[in-house]
Formats: sequence, structure tokens, C-alpha cells
Amino acid sequence: MSDIAPADAVGIINALIRDGRHQEATDLAVRCDGQWPNLAIFPLLAAQSLASRGQAEPALSACLRAVGKDRLGLESNAFFMALLIHLVPQVHWPQLYDVWRQNFPSAADLDALVAALAEHPQRYDFFGAWSRILLGTEHGTEAVDRFAHCLGPLSEAPPPADAIVAEYSDKAIAYDDDSVHRNSVDGIAPHLTRGLGGQAGQTIIDAGCGTGLAGHHLRPLAKRLIGIDLSPDMVARCRESGLYDTVIEADLIAALNDMPGQAGGIAILGCAYYFPDLAPMLTAARDALVPGGRLMLIDFPAAGAKSVRQTIGGTRRYCRSAETIRDLAAAAGLVVQPPDIVAYFNLPCYLWTFTRPE
Ligand SMILES: C[S@@+](CC[C@H](N)C(=O)[O-])C[C@H]1O[C@@H](n2cnc3c(N)ncnc32)[C@H](O)[C@@H]1O
Repeated sequence: MSDIAPADAVGIINALIRDGRHQEATDLAVRCDGQWPNLAIFPLLAAQSLASRGQAEPALSACLRAVGKDRLGLESNAFFMALLIHLVPQVHWPQLYDVWRQNFPSAADLDALVAALAEHPQRYDFFGAWSRILLGTEHGTEAVDRFAHCLGPLSEAPPPADAIVAEYSDKAIAYDDDSVHRNSVDGIAPHLTRGLGGQAGQTIIDAGCGTGLAGHHLRPLAKRLIGIDLSPDMVARCRESGLYDTVIEADLIAALNDMPGQAGGIAILGCAYYFPDLAPMLTAARDALVPGGRLMLIDFPAAGAKSVRQTIGGTRRYCRSAETIRDLAAAAGLVVQPPDIVAYFNLPCYLWTFTRPE
């Protein structure tokens, strides 16, 4: 092997991984790691081939070895986060996250990592995954701070209604099969029960209801449960669920404007990210609530001062600072509680609770 260049060895190992020859890929990567012990790429490739065989523990060890050789590099650090999310049960995240943190013993080291990657064009996945791990290790505020690196300035117009309809005509059929979608709603169920429960005989509106995943949790809280969604395919799935008394196919702002003073509770979950400006939504929701009624809203966060930003990778989403939401709530005449920080679509989110004053 001594006459082979590292770049050629990388090519061979990658080809072995592509062919599913993971044992040979791992063996070669380990041999190369011995030959070029200062290069992070070989333990990283070993980690990748081990992960492809579901071997979490050795994959994590190899990946940490790669991190140790290239502490400020994107690939090894991003792969470590991805390994935790995809191969390791959440209960073990705190312990393994601490092992990773030992490569960055001081706050200054961690700042150096963030600074080194802050402008990297492929940083979205890394900071997104890091923020998800932080949520799973109960570091919600830090998760919001890391997620800020997934954001950029507003640069595109929001998708028109027909683009959203087309998007969900593709997604509707398999939407509920995705555990990320199910876990997002299930993870906030206790919050929904606390925020919207306890009012006998009330109507609850699930605005942007999609297939009705939240219906499982909202149904016991409501005498009448109404869904609203723009997408005919999502509406069809939601009706099939049998959980809702009525499902309206419409833009949610238009529909809420047609229901003045009707709802004891409104949930808008995983949908506000389509809206660069939430003012019309909050006003429509306030008017649709009875006095004392509550709105619960999932919104992606933009850390720091007042701002609306958008994601630079993944699904395009509009994200707002807490200050922005507080100002919008005040302008809409809603009383707002401090937000909970929760995971939604595997990213940090603010879960806001607003009350229409009596
Ligand atoms: C990602 S899905 C979330 C569905 C559901 N709330 C959940 O959390 O599982 C977003 C939904 O918002 C709907 N949506 C987007 N813009 C909308 C609008 N202006 N009015 C009503 N629904 C809208 C989409 O059709 C889609 O079903």
C-alpha cells in the first residue's frame, strides 16, 4: 500500500462503500489510518462504513477519532451528530455528547469550532443536527443559538398557494409514515393538553392540520374539532382519520376570518414557517377565539434581536426571533406566555401560547 496516494485510497474505500462491501472498506480504512495517522479522512471513512452496517459503537469511536484529528472540520463533526441522531437512542445522547464535548474542553474551543464553520456553505446539516442533539440533551436555549447558523437573510418570496398544494399532493400519501412527522406532534402532546385542555364543550381548530396527526391529541380536548388545510390531498387524509367533525379545504387565514368568536382553542403546528409575516394570522386567530381562548403556535426561532430570517438549507422556512413574536402578539391584542423550546421536524422550535384577553 505504500506506493498508493491517500487520494487514491479514499477513492477505493468510497467505491467499496458504494458497492456495499463494508467489511473490506472498514479494513482498508483502518489500515490507511495506521499508515497516515494524521489524516482524519480514514477514520471518518471507517466510521461511515461501520455505520452503514448499523455498528453504532465502533462507528462512533472511529468518528470521534476523526474529530480528534480535525477538531474544526465540518465532515467529522457533522457525521458524529448524524450518527447520534440516526443510530443512537436519545437516552444515550447526553453521555455521548459529553464525550464529543471533551474534544472541545473550553468554551473558547467551542467558539473556535463555531467560528470555523459559521460561513461554510454546507453548514446547515451540521448546525441543524447539533441543535437537535442539544434539544435532546435539554440545552434548549443553546439549541436555538446553534440553529441561528442555519439561517440567512430573507431572499425569496414565499411559495404561492398552488406550489404548496402541489408539494403536498406528492407528500400526503406517505406523510404519516415518516416518524419525524409523527414524533413532532407526539412530542408536544403534553403541552397541547396543558395549553388547550380543561375547557368543557369547546371548539378547537387545528389550522394547517395536514393529515390530522395532531387530531389524536386534540380530539379528547374538544367537543367540536375543526381542521383547516390548503391541500386537498392532506384534507382527504385528515377526513379519513375520522378524528375531526369538519375539515375545511381553505387558506387558514381566510377560514379563521369566517369563524369569529367560535374557538376555545386554536393550534397552528408546523405551518407558520410558510408565512414571512405572521400579523394577519395572529389577528385572524385572535378574532376566531372566544375571550379567554388560547392559540398554540409552533414557530421556528431566529436567535437574537428582532428579525425574520429564512433557512439556508433543507426545507425553506421563515424563522422569527422571540422579540418579533412578542411585538406581533401585542399588536394583535394577544397576551403571550414565554415560549417552550421543543423539537419539531427534528429542529428547535418555539411553542408559543397566546390568550385572547377576557
Ligand atoms: C408540514 S405540514 C404540517 C401538518 C400538521 N399541522 C402537522 O404538524 O403534522 C404543513 C401543512 O400546512 C398546510 N398549509 C400551508 N400553508 C397553508 C395555508 N395558507 N392555509 C392552510 N394550510 C396551509 C399544508 O398544506 C400542510 O398540510
